[in-house]
Parts: sequence; structure tokens; C-alpha cells
Amino acid sequence: MADRAVTPLFRRMAVIGLGLIGGSLAKTVREKGLAETVVGFDRREDELALGVSLGVIDEAADSLASAVAGADLVVIAVPVQAMASVLASIRPQLSDDVLLTDVGSTKGSFVAAVKDVFGHWPDWVIPGHPIAGSEKSGIAAARTDLFAHHKVILTPADGSRQDLLGRLTALWQGCGATVLTMTVDRHDEVLAATSHLPHLIAFSLVDTLAGEDDNLDIFRYAAGGFRDFTRIAASDPVMWHDIFLSNRDAVLRVIDHFTDDLGALRSAIESGDGDMLLQVFGRAKAARDHFSKMLSGQAYVTNMNQKQVTFKLQAGGTVAGDIRVPGDKSMSHRSIMLGALAEGVTEVTGFLEGEDSLATLQAFRDMGVTIEGPDQGYVRIRGVGLHGLKAPRGPLYVGNSGTAMRLFAGLLAGQDFDSELTGDDSLNKRPMGRVADPLRQMGAVIETGEGGRPPLKIRGGQALKGLHYDMPMASAQVKSCLLLAGLYADGETSVTEPAPTRDHTERMLNGFGFSVERKGATARLSGGGRLTGGAIDVPADISSAAFFLVAASITPGADLMLRHVGVNETRTGIINILKLMGANIEVFNEQEVGGEPVADLRVQHAALKGIRIPEDQVPLAIDEFPVLFIAAVCAEGETVLAGAEELRVKESDRIQVMADGLSAVGIKSTVTEDGIVIVGGQQMKGGQVNSHGDHRIAMSFAVASLRAEGDIEVTDCANVATSFPNFVELAQQVGMRITVEESS
Ligand code: S3P
Repeated sequence: MADRAVTPLFRRMAVIGLGLIGGSLAKTVREKGLAETVVGFDRREDELALGVSLGVIDEAADSLASAVAGADLVVIAVPVQAMASVLASIRPQLSDDVLLTDVGSTKGSFVAAVKDVFGHWPDWVIPGHPIAGSEKSGIAAARTDLFAHHKVILTPADGSRQDLLGRLTALWQGCGATVLTMTVDRHDEVLAATSHLPHLIAFSLVDTLAGEDDNLDIFRYAAGGFRDFTRIAASDPVMWHDIFLSNRDAVLRVIDHFTDDLGALRSAIESGDGDMLLQVFGRAKAARDHFSKMLSGQAYVTNMNQKQVTFKLQAGGTVAGDIRVPGDKSMSHRSIMLGALAEGVTEVTGFLEGEDSLATLQAFRDMGVTIEGPDQGYVRIRGVGLHGLKAPRGPLYVGNSGTAMRLFAGLLAGQDFDSELTGDDSLNKRPMGRVADPLRQMGAVIETGEGGRPPLKIRGGQALKGLHYDMPMASAQVKSCLLLAGLYADGETSVTEPAPTRDHTERMLNGFGFSVERKGATARLSGGGRLTGGAIDVPADISSAAFFLVAASITPGADLMLRHVGVNETRTGIINILKLMGANIEVFNEQEVGGEPVADLRVQHAALKGIRIPEDQVPLAIDEFPVLFIAAVCAEGETVLAGAEELRVKESDRIQVMADGLSAVGIKSTVTEDGIVIVGGQQMKGGQVNSHGDHRIAMSFAVASLRAEGDIEVTDCANVATSFPNFVELAQQVGMRITVEESS
């Protein structure tokens, strides 16, 4: 057989019950050579005979006893209700080195049957549940691709044998599945909510409508929505009857929860409460749109099904045209936060529909705020006032966003409910003590994960008091966090920064009618008071424009116009530094829009020279260094960066990851503790660069390809969607030779 594994994992696998799942497993294991012999048993003799003739099994056993005798893997694939009697019959024949598993849809009932028959849960019994199926049943429908790209949940006990768990995991992986483990109770809860309840609703809805007098008409006209929604009502009634009876408690809990929520929607419709409808539908739509990433509290969904995105870059290309990059990420976060805490409606235009700011938006929906959109950058927020947020049902998941987590920490410290903030793998490595420590000094009760990392557990109902804080690092996130906590604190909160950092929080608070005073390096506000909603026009993000400022600067013949870019002087380090290097950047149409300066930027190719980057510019260009390193490579002479240790705690260690990426394309650099030295004029070659999931590293090497002499491939680029969802389209539009390869 073509696909045979090198060494089989099991000698003799016995499959009891040759329905769709048991049959498909037997067939796949045979085809892949995962067991030396596959023996099957089914009490339906015709199915058993079919099993042999279709090549699903090697041998048909004539009794349960002979099927399991001598088997080192026994898989029980009979209906849930028949488990106990099968277990009782095979018990005497089980060999000493056996691994016993099942494929049932509920796990509590299987474990109960095991305990009933064996008197305890033996350490060689490991329950399993492949989340796969089809409306077809029976062995004739058995397929060898049924489990490919599907999940299999194993529910071992604490004392289960690890060697057996490892082999069972390998077996399922060998069938193409992704294996997860969880406790029996958690499995049954999760499945009750995600599978059993939807099936119940589908069966019930079809039955209700089929019972109506005019049912023929209803079914005649039943179109897309009804058909899609009720597809699962065509599943096997006997199997589902078994499942509901065996997962009784978990299913009852979720039915009650759903019935309450349905009742609330009914009342909203009855009383004309459109706000409530919009709130529920908006929250649901956003959750559905971002299923795998945004559903909080379901760790097993998080980080799964993530696409692997690779940028393929052909060397060379041009940079010309007239573009507007998406909205500023920092201001987008803040517009939602302050809009939600304001009284009245806030209308945002130019909102960045990137994953980071969408995470913030979703978190407020989870806290009961009605938000319409986003629709092409337009968002309408119905503010609930400083004290109007509601407790979220589960942890607030903020994905990759450090800004969201740190600003939320301040805001949530002042609420009267408990909350928890979680994020993705990259965010889980980033320091949160920098916000938790000063917040604790204000009276907040916050628990961090190990080493001051996420998750953050914030206890509500604390009386915060104002604080004066001398920030040890130049961080707009820390400053903003404390100012947001200060809204809820008694007295004055002030933050002094060691160097100027972006001041969007201060500006926007003032725009919402909440006074923030600025004196020298100190921003100050007093707790109490209120915010009033209004209009916010988010300019294009200078941090996204930065990629094109460098792209045009290093590409002979380039001439590019970037429209409506935010040029707040706490953000223009990139322009200042590039100009010091000799870049040709002109600023047009400077104007103030909603309290923030905005301009059009024209950038043309220029011969760059290396410089020692002034340290006072570092916080003003903090997000732009990855792409500035590419400018440095293309400049004449040495560029020295120092005083930038903060780069080591961004979405990745941006000093090391950039140095590694540069080395992959043939460029030598010298890494220092707080910066890097790059000797310009070295020729970039082709190569493969790992962006380590850092959006700005990925985009920087896309820019590098303009001056490389070979093709560059950048891996792990999915997170470009956090800050610049249409980067690839705009890069292609200006003449860069970039394509994307996606795999699951
Ligand atoms: C941000 C502040 C900066 C920046 C980040 C956005 C903000 O972080 O790197 O991308 O919106 O306040 P630090 O405060 O950690 O410097």
C-alpha cells in the first residue's frame, strides 16, 4: 500500500462496531499501516462481511471474545447506550498490554460504564471522540479521509498511562487528525454547547414547522437560510437520542441558558427594544466572523485552524502611485475605548479593521456595549458611560495586542466586576508587570501569570486612589493605562515620562470633554466627571505608511504619494530619522482633524546615508525600527541604534529577530543589548526569513525584496492582519512583486 507508515504503532487492532466511524478508522489504519492487523466485529453479519469485501478490515471475528483476544488496541465504536454491555462481554478476554478506547460522542457516560464494569477507571482506558461525521451511515460509507483536518478529543484521567496516550495520539495523527486533550467534564460541556444544542434546535425547529397546518408551503419555499440551518436535522435519530440521554446534565444546563437568552430576545422584540437586538446580533456576528480567534473562554478553539501565511517576494519591483494606508492602530483602539465609556453616540471614520483593534471592539461588545460596524472604517458606538459596562461572560481575548491588554488593564481595574484578559502566544510572553505594579499602587487588585506575564486577573469593586507615577520606561501604553485607571480614581493621577511618547489618549480624552493637563513631561487628570461622545476621524497610520516611506526611499525611480497620514509629532520619528539619512519626503496639506495633525506625504527615491540615530527619536519611531533597519542596509555607511531596549519586548524581540532575518538574506549586523549596528552598502541576497509571527518584521522583509538580488520568502506572516490587513494589495498596487501562499 502506497501510504504505509514505517513501523506500525499496534500489532493487532480490534474495532467493535463497524459503522461509519469505526469502519472509517479501521480502513484508514489499514491503509496507512498504523496496525499490523485490523480485526473487526459487528453484530450485524452483513456489515461484517461487507467489511472484509470492501477491504475495511483484515479479519472478521465471529464473536466479541475472539475479536479482542490478543489485541493490543481495542476501539469500541458501538452506540453510546450499548457500551456497558460490550465492555462487560469483552472484559475477560482483554490482554495485559491492551489500550482500550472509544469513539463515542459523550465521555461521561463511557467512563461511567467503564467504572461500572471494572470497578474503577483502569490506567489503560483512554476515552476518545473524533469530531467528524457525515449524514451517511454504515460501513459502506467508510472513508479514509474522514478524520483528515478534523479534531479528535482525548479525555485521559490524571493517572492514565502516558505511553499509551502517546501511542493513541500518534494513531489519530497518523489518520490526519489534530489531537486535543481535555477532561471528561469539560468535553461534555463543550460538546453540549457546540454540537448537542445545535442539533436539538435543528430537530426541534424542523419538527415545529412540519407540524404547522401550512407546512407544505413552508417547505416548498424553504430556501437558503432554513436549509443551511437545519441540515443537521437529517442526522441519525437513534444516535442523537442516545447522545441526549447520556449527556443529560450538561445538555440541560446549556438548554436552560439558551432558553433564557431566547426569552430575553423575545421580550426585546415584544417591547421594541432595538438596542438590545442590535447588541446581541452585533456581538454574535463579530464572534462568528472571528470564530477561531475571538471566541473567548474556549482555549481549545484558540490558536487552531490558524492559517500559515507565507509572503513570496520576487527581487526588484517599483514603488509608484497614490495610496492611503489604513487607519491608525493606536487611535482606533482608543476611539472604541473612549466611545464606549462616553455618554451618547460616537461615530468613528477611518477605523482600522485589523485584528488588534477588532479585538478591542469585540471586548466591549462582550461587556454589553452596542457597536454598529465596522463597515469600511465606519463604526458607531452607543456609549454606556464610565460606569455602564457589564461583566463579560468569560475572559476577554485580545489576541496579539499589547495595547489592548495594557489599556484594558487600567480601565478594568476601575470596574465593579471581576475580569480576565488573555491573549495569543506572542502576547503571553510580554511583560505586564509594568502596568500591574503601578495599578496596584493605586489600589487595584491584579493577578498576573508567571513572571508578570498574561493572563491578567483583575478583581473589581476596588476603590482606586490617584497616583503620581514616574515611568521607568518611555511607554505610551503604561501612561494610557494609568490615565484610564485615573478616570475611576479618587483625586489626581499624573504620569511623568522619561521621554515623550504618543499622546493620543490625552488628546482624545480632551476631545471627549475630559480635561487632561500637560505640563512638561507630566500628564495629569482628576477622577470623576464624564466623557461625551462625538465624531472621530482616524488618520492613516504613520506606522503602516513607514513601510512605503522606506520602500520608496530605497527604490531607484520611486515616487509615491501617501494620503491623510497622521503626523502627530510624537509619531514622526520615522520621518525625522529618514530625513537625517537623506530621504526625500515632502509634507503637503497639513491640517488638524479632530485634534490630530494630518498631512499628505510625497516620497521619492534618494541616496541614503548611515547615521547614529538620535536617542530622543527612539520613542517617536518605536514601531518603525524593523523597516528602518532595511533602510540602513541600503544606506551608505554605518547606522547605529542605541537606547532601544524596548524593542526586545515587542511582538517579538525585534533586535534579534531582525538581525536573524538580515543574516538569512546575507547581511551582517552587530547586535547590542539596546540596539544594533548595521554597515550599509551590503548586497541583500535571496533567502528564507522567519518573521516569528511579528507583523512588522514580515512587512519589513517584503520591503527589503525591492533591493535584494534574489527572491525572499517570509514565513509566519498571518499577523500582518493585526495592523495592516490590505498590505499585500497595496504593495502590489505600487509595484512590489509580492504574492501570498496560505496553508492550514
Ligand atoms: C502603543 C504604544 C507603543 C507602541 C505600540 C502602540 C500605543 O508601545 O509600540 O505599538 O498605542 O500606546 P509601548 O507603550 O510599549 O512603547
